[in-house]
Formats: sequence, structure tokens, C-alpha cells
Amino acid sequence: MVISFLHSSQLIITIIILQISVPLIQSSPSASSPTVQLPLSTNIDNNSPLTLSVTDFGATGDGIHYDTKAIQSAIDACPSSNTPCHVTFPPGTYLTATIRLKSHVTLNIQENATLLGGTKIEDYPKESSRWYVVLAENASDVGITGGGVVDGQGLKFVVTKNERKNVMVSWNQTGECSGDECRPRLVGFLGCRNVHVWNVRLNEPAYWCLHIVRCVNTSIHDISIYGDFNTPNNDGIDIEDSNNTVITRCNINTGDDAICPKTYTGPLYNLTATDCWIRTKSSAIKFGSASSFDFKGLMFNNITIFESHRGLGFQIRDGGNVSDVTFSNINISTRYYDPSWWGRAEPIYVTTCPRDSKAKEGSISNILFVNITATSENGVFLSGSEHGLLSNLRFINVNLTYGRWTNYTGGLVDYRPGCQGLVNHSSAGIIMEHIEGLEVENVNMRWSDDQAEEWNNPLDFRPSTVDNIYFLNFHSGFKKQ
Ligand SMILES: *[C@@H]1O[C@H](CO)[C@@H](O)[C@H](O)[C@H]1NC(C)=O
Ligand SMILES: *[C@@H]1O[C@H](CO)[C@@H](O)[C@H](O)[C@H]1NC(C)=O
Ligand SMILES: *[C@@H]1O[C@H](CO)[C@@H](O)[C@H](O)[C@H]1NC(C)=O
Ligand SMILES: *[C@@H]1O[C@H](CO)[C@@H](O)[C@H](O)[C@H]1NC(C)=O
Ligand SMILES: *[C@@H]1O[C@H](CO)[C@@H](O)[C@H](O)[C@H]1NC(C)=O
Ligand SMILES: *[C@@H]1O[C@H](CO)[C@@H](O)[C@H](O)[C@H]1NC(C)=O
Ligand SMILES: *[C@@H]1O[C@H](CO)[C@@H](O)[C@H](O)[C@H]1NC(C)=O
Ligand SMILES: *[C@@H]1O[C@H](CO)[C@@H](O)[C@H](O)[C@H]1NC(C)=O
Ligand SMILES: *[C@@H]1O[C@H](CO)[C@@H](O)[C@H](O)[C@H]1NC(C)=O
Ligand SMILES: *[C@@H]1O[C@H](CO)[C@@H](O)[C@H](O)[C@H]1NC(C)=O
Ligand SMILES: *[C@@H]1O[C@H](CO)[C@@H](O)[C@H](O)[C@H]1NC(C)=O
Ligand SMILES: *[C@@H]1O[C@H](CO)[C@@H](O)[C@H](O)[C@H]1NC(C)=O
Repeated sequence: MVISFLHSSQLIITIIILQISVPLIQSSPSASSPTVQLPLSTNIDNNSPLTLSVTDFGATGDGIHYDTKAIQSAIDACPSSNTPCHVTFPPGTYLTATIRLKSHVTLNIQENATLLGGTKIEDYPKESSRWYVVLAENASDVGITGGGVVDGQGLKFVVTKNERKNVMVSWNQTGECSGDECRPRLVGFLGCRNVHVWNVRLNEPAYWCLHIVRCVNTSIHDISIYGDFNTPNNDGIDIEDSNNTVITRCNINTGDDAICPKTYTGPLYNLTATDCWIRTKSSAIKFGSASSFDFKGLMFNNITIFESHRGLGFQIRDGGNVSDVTFSNINISTRYYDPSWWGRAEPIYVTTCPRDSKAKEGSISNILFVNITATSENGVFLSGSEHGLLSNLRFINVNLTYGRWTNYTGGLVDYRPGCQGLVNHSSAGIIMEHIEGLEVENVNMRWSDDQAEEWNNPLDFRPSTVDNIYFLNFHSGFKKQ
């Protein structure tokens, strides 16, 4: 369901400043809480937006004939001045090859209209880096809205359906892309400024869904993302090397990672995600694993994570440092699905280690978890590495309930990708390694009373690698108490 929120044309002159700043509880040293300010409306000019309908450019909307030329002509007919231009899709189904947005253009895909991505390799540009149904490159004031749908026809890329994990097509015969992940993404903003995606559904991507790369000032709100639960790599929102990103009121139900900040070619600063509901067969929130540069100033608030394979995750592997991250007011349930997906039901998973012998070690510091409740089949895993410590971690007002309701047996810790891989290890409520400074305050652990024997220790650490742990008001007991 997509909630219609920003609607009126009266917003044209107004710049709405979305200001999010969560007060931290006072008893503890505070992690810096980022405040991201963004113009929510891209229509910052005094002009009314020009509206062009794709049907006036010959689009059939019959879902059978390609409407690519008509759609692209409508976009290209938008003035190259600063006038905002809305390219409108009336109800209908518009089959298309890659379409390219330019500055000041917003796609207005109306309710009951679907932009349907082609499934043939000829539908996409030659370079696999540009395999998107909708692509904006080096543009400013661009976006998608309207209440309709962008659909990648992901199920048409399934070679063999499988309840554990589908086997997918790979366009790896081109020389442009190798491996088994060569499929088009759905929507990409690369090197853009002032990106605005709202009131739209993004469905069935063949690969990643919404990709924000080297962008500044991105606002994503009131969107829903749906991907097949058994399809690999259908991530929700991947935010790479980008600054000032605000995500709010989103609903993501997909097989792969839901909100995924990464760094490949530069740092990522200031990302907030709030008021979201997530279900995934992988990690709900995942840092990395691409992590060559720093991540700084991220905030996640008021998020429900439902029956996911992993809740809040960090897979730092390439030498980037992570700092100043707050997770607040988050309810998590995690369960085990299948070993072919990342995650082993950990509600919170914070790891940094060198991916391989050539990789650098990044650190993770100033991380606050406050007002978190979790029900899960596995414990919290906090693992730094010798030269990439976890430091100044705080858990405040955290309730962890442990039980098992699938066939999951535990007994392994997961350092993948790379590092030590999967390692046999007794199960614990919180496993801690290579940490300098950990504060645990008002933390309850509750155990299913009929299963408590399946767990070895509430807390597991060695003083040789964990220095300065502080517990205040820690409680462990049976669930029914
Ligand atoms: C945590 O929850 C308490 C009680 O509901 C509330 O007063 C406090 O503001 C919350 N803290 C944060 C950082 O949201
Ligand atoms: C991140 O946000 C902070 C606080 O609002 C601001 O001072 C800083 O300039 C921002 N960083 C970038 C790279 O935009
Ligand atoms: C991003 O938004 C901020 C606040 O509105 C503004 O000061 C800044 O110039 C914008 N950055 C770019 C690159 O447009
Ligand atoms: C969309 O389709 C539904 C179901 O056919 C219909 O009830 C509704 O009026 C349509 N809305 C628009 C804006 O066309
Ligand atoms: C966008 O900018 C990047 C970096 O400057 C450049 O490599 C790329 O060719 C540009 N793309 C287009 C379509 O102009
Ligand atoms: C191409 O993709 C197929 C299907 O996923 C895979 O089995 C094969 O190994 C890949 N070949 C290359 C050269 O990457
Ligand atoms: C984000 O901000 C950092 C720090 O100011 C800067 O190094 C980086 O180039 C910025 N990224 C983009 C995409 O502008
Ligand atoms: C939390 O997010 C939900 C949407 O997931 C929203 O309905 C609710 O109003 C939000 N709560 C607060 C306190 O903002
Ligand atoms: C988490 O659960 C508590 C208790 O059921 C509820 O009050 C709170 O609103 C929930 N928060 C979220 C983000 O779902
Ligand atoms: C991470 O921090 C270490 C120690 O301060 C530093 O040597 C390294 O260059 C940082 N990594 C990056 C990607 O900036
Ligand atoms: C944790 O449980 C205690 C006791 O039931 C309750 O008072 C508290 O509000 C809960 N805190 C959170 C963050 O759910
Ligand atoms: C546990 O495994 C059995 C046998 O493989 C299977 O029939 C059953 O559905 C599984 N239960 C759950 C909850 O996964």
C-alpha cells in the first residue's frame, strides 16, 4: 500500500525542510545525532510544472507494444530550462526499454498505471552499469511519483523456481558482466542532486530495486517495495557513496537486503531512515559489505522488522570506518530460513574484519542502540578484529527474547563474506570479540523456559579481546517471569 502524502500543486513555491533529530537519553554520553535537511519539493522554481502526457507522444499503454520511444520523446520534450516538468502516465501498462531522465523531470506514474521493464538484453544499454528500467545520470531535481507502479518483471528472470532460492537468468555472455548476477536493476539515480521518489510502488525487480549512487540530497518517502521472497539479489534500497539521504514511511517486503548503505568509490554521510516496515529473507538494514570508504552520521528510528533472516547488520570488510550511528525505537523479529541466504536469525550483527589477506581493517565506533525489542532464534553478535575494533558501543533499553520455533540448531558464528567464514561456536545471548568500550544499560534477556538448555551462555567474551564493558541493570530470566 502506498500512502498518498504530498499531493498538492500548492507546494511548488514552498520548500519543505524535513528535519529529523532524535533526542538521546541524557544519562549517557551522546552519539552525535545527524540532522539531515532536505528540500522535499523539487519544484523550487516559481513556475508551475509543465505537464506532458506520454499518450500525446504516441504511447499505447497496452503492455504489449514497446512505448520506449514515446516516453523518451516526452522526457526529451521537457524544456532544458529550470522549469519543472512532469511526464505523466495515465492508467495503462507501458512496456519499456531503459528510459533516461534528465534534469527537472519527474515521472508522474498515475494510479492504475504501470511502467513495465523489458526482459530482453536488447532493452538495456550496452554497458551493464546502465542496466536500469529508469535511469537518471548526473541530473538534478529528478524524481518519480504519482501513485502508480514501476515493475521489473523479476519473475520472468527465474529459470527454476525454488522455495529455498530461485535460480535466475544471468546475462553474463556479453563480456560486460560476469558471474551469476547479471540482470537489470529497476531504478537508478547516479551522480544526481535533489532526487525525490515518493508515492510509488516498486515491484519485482530482476536485481536491485532502487539504487542511489554518488547522489546528494535524496528524499524517498511513502513508497512500497515488493520483491519475490525467493529471488536472490532483489535488494530494496541500496545507497552508495551518497550524502544527505532521507528515507521515511516505506514498506519493504523482499528477498534480499532491504536498506543497504555501501561505499565503493567515496564515503557515505548523513542517512536517516524512519517509520518503515521491513520483511526480508536477508538483512533488514545492512552496512556493506562493500565498505572501502567511511560511513558517518546515520540514524534509523521507528522501524519494524518482521520475520527477517537478520535484523540490524554491519558487514564491514574493506577498510572503511563506520561512526556515529543511532538505532532507536526498533522492534525486530528474526527467524532462520535457509543457509543459502545471509543471516542466521541474529537480531543485531555488528562485524568488521578484513575480507581477505589484502584487505584493510575498518573500525566501527560510536554506535547507539536504544529502545530495541527483539524476539529471535539466535543471539547478538558483536565482533571486531585485531586492528579494526568496535568501540564505544551502547545498548540502552534493549529487550532480547530468545526461543526457537524453526529447525534452526545454532552452534555456528558467521564471519562471512570472507574473513573466517563459518566457525563452530557455542550459542550465547551476546557474543563479544575485539571491543573497546561497551555499555549495557537496562537490558533484559528472556529465555523460552522449555528451551533454555539449547543456549550455552547469556554473555560470551574474553577479557583478552574485550576491554571496558559496563553493565547497569542487566537482567536475564525465563520468558514467563
Ligand atoms: C526511548 O523510550 C522512552 C520511553 O518510551 C522515551 O521516553 C525515549 O524518548 C525513547 N528514546 C529515544 C532515543 O527515542
Ligand atoms: C552532514 O550533516 C551534518 C549535520 O547536519 C552537517 O554539518 C554536514 O555538513 C553534513 N555532511 C555532508 C557531507 O553533507
Ligand atoms: C542539499 O540541500 C541543502 C539543504 O537544503 C543545500 O544547502 C545544499 O546546497 C544542497 N546540495 C546540493 C548539492 O544541491
Ligand atoms: C483504479 O482501478 C480501480 C479498480 O479497477 C478503480 O476502482 C479506480 O477507480 C481506478 N483509479 C483511477 C484513478 O483510475
Ligand atoms: C556522469 O558523470 C560521470 C563522472 O563525471 C561521467 O563519468 C559520466 O560519463 C557522466 N554520464 C553522463 C551520461 O553524462
Ligand atoms: C553465467 O551465469 C550462469 C547462470 O547463473 C552461471 O551458471 C555461469 O557460471 C555464469 N558464467 C560466467 C562465465 O560467469
Ligand atoms: C559527501 O561528503 C564527503 C565529505 O564532505 C565528500 O568527500 C564526498 O565527496 C561527498 N559525496 C558526494 C557524492 O558529493
Ligand atoms: C512509526 O512508523 C509507523 C509506520 O511504520 C507510523 O505509522 C507511526 O506513526 C510512527 N510512529 C511515530 C511515533 O512516529
Ligand atoms: C514496538 O512494540 C511496542 C510494544 O508492542 C509498541 O508500543 C511500539 O510502538 C512498537 N514500535 C515499533 C517501531 O514497531
Ligand atoms: C579508517 O581509520 C584508520 C585509522 O584512523 C585510517 O588509517 C584509515 O585510513 C581509515 N579508512 C579510510 C577508508 O579512510
Ligand atoms: C522492556 O521490558 C520491560 C519489562 O517488561 C518494559 O518495562 C520496557 O518498556 C521494555 N523496553 C523496551 C524497549 O521494549
Ligand atoms: C523441520 O524439518 C522437518 C523435516 O525436514 C520439516 O518437515 C518441518 O516442516 C520443519 N519445520 C520447520 C518449522 O521448519
